[in-house]
Amino acid sequence: MAPPKIVILTGAGISRESGLHTFRDADGIWARHRIEDVATPEAFARDPALVQGFYNARRAQLRDPSLRPNAAHEALAELEARWPADFLLVTQNVDDLHDRAGSKRLVHMHGELAKARCLHCAAVSHAPGDLTAETPCPACGRAGGMRPHVVWFGEMPLEMERIGAALEGCDLFVSIGTSGAVYPAAGFVREVRHRADTLELNLEPSEGSHLFDEARHGPATQLVPAFVREMLAKWG
Ligand code: APR
Repeated sequence: MAPPKIVILTGAGISRESGLHTFRDADGIWARHRIEDVATPEAFARDPALVQGFYNARRAQLRDPSLRPNAAHEALAELEARWPADFLLVTQNVDDLHDRAGSKRLVHMHGELAKARCLHCAAVSHAPGDLTAETPCPACGRAGGMRPHVVWFGEMPLEMERIGAALEGCDLFVSIGTSGAVYPAAGFVREVRHRADTLELNLEPSEGSHLFDEARHGPATQLVPAFVREMLAKWG
């Protein structure tokens, strides 16, 4: 029996114990901001300064010296490093905690807070600081066109071909810290459940819990390291 090919999907819940808010919990981001004001292309066209301010504040959190990956991020990086078969980590998160934990086979399907994209030349660049209308594009030099490299509602997620291929071939799909409220990520379990084992690790039942072979509920920093220990004991 060969070790399973694994696809792992993460959402904001995996970063909650690092101190970053989720979106739909009672203290979540969408309890304090309206999506249509700050997370759509129309919002950016209507009031770019408001949208840049929303993402500049979230990006500033990434520069907080107290912010670091938690045991769940670190466990996934260890699983990847020691896994003897195909492995892909697909995150909906735009924070850089998986990157900082050492994950390499990683796709940010909703983009990355620490990057910017130029509306003039489409170049994507590293942008750790605030973005403003005056920020010049490092590639074409023009200002007035630097937007967060984050996928807004109504826009296509990134690297969907790579994700689709990994889902097509996986034997085990694990969903961690996501409410299952946003597609296409919320639909991944439906794509694979007829031929792969499926496991949900989440603080509480999500909208799609019933679609998983198994659902374990609790904090990611407990569930994920335990899951990784289990997998490495069996296959590592
Ligand atoms: N451990 C595990 N799960 C947790 C924890 C925790 N400590 N804290 C919260 N959760 C769970 C919540 O129970 C919830 O099911 O994480 C999930 C977070 O759900 P959302 O806030 O909806 O975040 P997410 O699923 O990542 O949102 C998907 O929506 O707004 C868009 O683009 C944004 O990527 C985001 C997408």
